[in-house]
This record gives sequence, structure tokens and C-alpha cells, in this order.
Amino acid sequence: VEAPRLTVLVGFMGAGKTTTARALDHDAVDADEVLEERAGVAVRELFAREGEEAFRVREETLVLELLERSDVRTLALGGGAVLSPRVREALRGHEVVWLDVDPAVAWERAAGPDRPLSADPVRFRALHAAREPLYASVATLVVLPGEDPLAAVAWGAERPAGTTLLWGRHPVVVGACGDWWPQPGRRFTVTDENVADRMGTDPFRSLVLPPGEGTKTLASAERVWRWLAAEGATRADHVAAVGGGVIGDLAGFCASAYQRGIPVVQVPTTLVAQVDSAIGGKTGVDLPEAKNYVGAYHQPAAVLADPAALATLPAAERAAGYAEVLKTALIAGGSLWQRVRDGAVSDAETIRACALTKLRVVGEDERDAGARQVLNLGHTAAHAIETVTGYARYRHGEAVALGLLVALRLSGQDALRAEVAELLAAQDLPTRLDTAVDLDAVEDAIGRDKKRVSGVVPWVLAAGPGDVTPGHPVPSREVHAALQELTG
Ligand SMILES: NC(=O)c1ccc[n+]([C@@H]2O[C@H](COP(=O)([O-])OP(=O)(O)OC[C@H]3O[C@@H](n4cnc5c(N)ncnc54)[C@H](O)[C@@H]3O)[C@@H](O)[C@H]2O)c1
Repeated sequence: VEAPRLTVLVGFMGAGKTTTARALDHDAVDADEVLEERAGVAVRELFAREGEEAFRVREETLVLELLERSDVRTLALGGGAVLSPRVREALRGHEVVWLDVDPAVAWERAAGPDRPLSADPVRFRALHAAREPLYASVATLVVLPGEDPLAAVAWGAERPAGTTLLWGRHPVVVGACGDWWPQPGRRFTVTDENVADRMGTDPFRSLVLPPGEGTKTLASAERVWRWLAAEGATRADHVAAVGGGVIGDLAGFCASAYQRGIPVVQVPTTLVAQVDSAIGGKTGVDLPEAKNYVGAYHQPAAVLADPAALATLPAAERAAGYAEVLKTALIAGGSLWQRVRDGAVSDAETIRACALTKLRVVGEDERDAGARQVLNLGHTAAHAIETVTGYARYRHGEAVALGLLVALRLSGQDALRAEVAELLAAQDLPTRLDTAVDLDAVEDAIGRDKKRVSGVVPWVLAAGPGDVTPGHPVPSREVHAALQELTG
């Protein structure tokens, strides 16, 4: 893949495309400005005079011309330029930077008489939602709301061509990175036997641990710490966590505490890890008493997620990851939910969209004070099921599948629950709890959930796809009934 020729800023009105383009390059070209110069009137007037369709034709011709010009290095496009399939096609091979903006912020910035499409707030929001999949389809670099686009473009300039960079609380690179490595210093790789068998071990230094949830313990953490110490790792070095969620959580936790904290680069190799666990900085280990009970927030220096690494993943592990994909799609709603209900499982686009959703949620609430708790949809029951079955009967994702059905029952979402059950079953995920599992023990374990506040367990409930909220108390008889239903 060749290096990108132009840096092109795309995104909704009010995202800051023109300002960012100028800050990147003072010779940057703004397509709307050129259009106005040539027409001799303002965009708003062209719109009023010619109608949107004629305006779009004019805009398409101009943008295609500008993308070909050898004297243009940085180009800001109007918010609607990506509506044209020819423009979207012509954007291939360029660094297309999507400045993601919260619709409320965009409204504050853009509302007013100068913009033809920002007269009515309801229409504005609908337009924002409709445009999002178009920006997503062309973007090679996504800058999340509130993040610094200049830092993103500078960091992103180093990465291999053909990859997509998501720039949020930490960078996530999706695609094949080859030998490129984002972190200076010596690398200390922690991985597991299955991953090492399939991908080989790090030629520098690696510690290969047994696979499975049983490795996510304090005893393993001690092994990692003592290995780092014996190998002479210092604060100038870093840990690479190469594997699924178990390795990511464990090695991330070890990095957070080793010499009071060294960087970690997450290299997720399972679907669970690529769409969920490697992103957002939650790390930790299980105790025999409960899952994920000891840990730390430790944001990765970078996440390198290559969907091609999933080629060797056993079907059951892919399915387990699908439960987190489905959870993420329920949280995101909109085009991601549509994609998943249409049958998407683990293609690169779906992985990217899930990773972006998680990064957005984490950006709003890094330390789980509120908004981030939506990511726990389905996890209250899932963690209890895993604890009671000794982390042995179900994979995490399988437990999440069951947990989603409990949460949707408690949300009173019958039709959605039925649809989700069908999607889960199509991936051979469980939709019924093994009758050998002790339901009273599951209820007890739910009562010990670490998110409980003054003895009340707050549930994450869904009023529909894209409408998931945390902090709902639920009477225990309803929880009991929802669990009963799972064994029925
Ligand atoms: N930190 C978070 O925010 C977060 C979020 C979700 C889940 N988690 C945690 O993640 C863990 C589950 O992660 P997981 O499902 O990735 O489990 P895992 O790490 O145990 O991996 C699943 C299996 O796949 C194997 N494997 C990994 N990559 C492979 C590859 N490319 N080819 C073939 N085999 C491969 C592993 O060896 C293992 O046997 C749980 O402990 C869960 O609590 C954490």
C-alpha cells in the first residue's frame, strides 16, 4: 500500500475541519471556500438558489478536481461531500481524518443562518446519525470528540499505510502493522501457549503462560513480575500483551504495578480482546471469591488490533467474542446495530466500529463513574454465572450471552430479547443456562456484585438499541424470575 498523498478532513458541520486543516498546514484548501469563490456567492445562497441536488453536483466536481491537484496537501471538505459515491471512491489512498463531534456540541457551533442544514435541531441530529456511517466508511484516522487532531495526525504519520487509527483516550490501530512498533524502549512480551504456537514467540523476550481464565490470577501476576525483575526490565521498558482478554488483563495489570507502572502495548488476538477488553485500560485478575476483583486502570500506550490475527481463532472463541460484539451493537444502536442484525460477526469493519464505540464510551467516563457502566450490559448476571461455575463451565463471552438475555428480560424488551436470542443461537452461543448450575448461588453472587451501592445492585438496562443506561435497581423477585426463565 502506498503512502497517502493528501490529508483530507471530513466530518459533520461544526467539527472544526477548516480550523484543523489550517493548523496542520497553512496552505490548506477548504473546498467550501473554493466553491464560494468560484460561484461568487455563499454556500447558503447556492443552496437556496439551486437546491441541494445541484449543489452536490457542483461540490462533487470540485472535490474530485482538488483531490487530483498536485499542489494541494491538506484539504477540508464540506460536511456533505461524502454523500457522493464518487468522492468516497476518490478518497481511497488518502489520509482521511474524520473529526468526530458530539451532535450537541456541533449544534452549538453550527446552528445559525449561515449553514443551510442547521435550522432545526431534530433534523440536525438525524442528519448527524445518517452521515456517521459515511464518515466511518472513508476514514483512515478517527479523532474522537475532545481529542487533539494535531497530535493524532502526527502520531498517525508513523503507522503503516493501510491501517486505520482511532484516536481517543489512547490510540487504537486496526489492521496489519507488520514489524512496526509504536513504543520506544525494550519490549517484554507476555503471551499464552496457544498464541505462541500459532504466531511464534517474540524474538526479543517473551514469557509464555498456560492459556485460559485460570491464568488470570495473582500467582500468574507474581510470575510475570518476577520474570520482569529477573530480566532486568526498567521503567524505560514496556510490556507487550499479545493474546486474548486473559493475557491483556493480566499483563496490563502487571505493567500497572511493576515499578509503580510501566507502559503496556496491547496486541489483542481474540475477537473479545479486539472489540472490548484491550481497549479502555481496565486491567486485573480474578480471586477465587470473585472475578476481576483486583486490578487497576492502566491505559495502554497503544492497541494494535489486526483482524487477520483472528484467522486461527477456534469457532467457539469467535462465538464468545460475538457476544461482546452484540453487546456493543446494542449500546451503539444506529448503523452498528443494523450491521449486526443483518448478520455481521467479525469482519474488519465491524471490529473497527465496535472498537470505536468502546473508545467513545471510555472517553466519556474513564473511571466508571457513570457513562462507562453501560459497557456492563449483560455482565451483572454473566460475572455471577462465571463465579458460580468456577470460570470453567462457560467462556466469558458465553456467560455474557446468557447475561444479555437476563438484562433484556429485566428491561422488559421481549421482542429485542427474542431477536438477540436468535442471533446468539445462530453463532452456537448458549441461550439457556445449564440446569446443573445452582440458581440460588447465582443470585447470591449477583448480590455481591462489585458495583453494588449500599447493598443495591445497579443493573444496566436497555430501552432499545442505542438506548442503554446504567444504575437501575431491580427487585430480587424479578431477577429470580429472569434467571428461572433461562433454565426453562
Ligand atoms: N478489561 C476489560 O475491559 C475486559 C472486557 C471484556 C472481557 N475481559 C476479560 O477478557 C477475558 C476473556 O478474553 P478472551 O475471550 O479473549 O479469552 P482468552 O484470553 O482466554 O482467549 C481465549 C482462547 O483463545 C486462545 N487464543 C487467543 N488468540 C488466539 C488466536 N489468534 N488463535 C487461536 N487461539 C487464540 C487463547 O489461548 C485462549 O485459549 C476474561 O477474563 C474477561 O474478564 C476484560
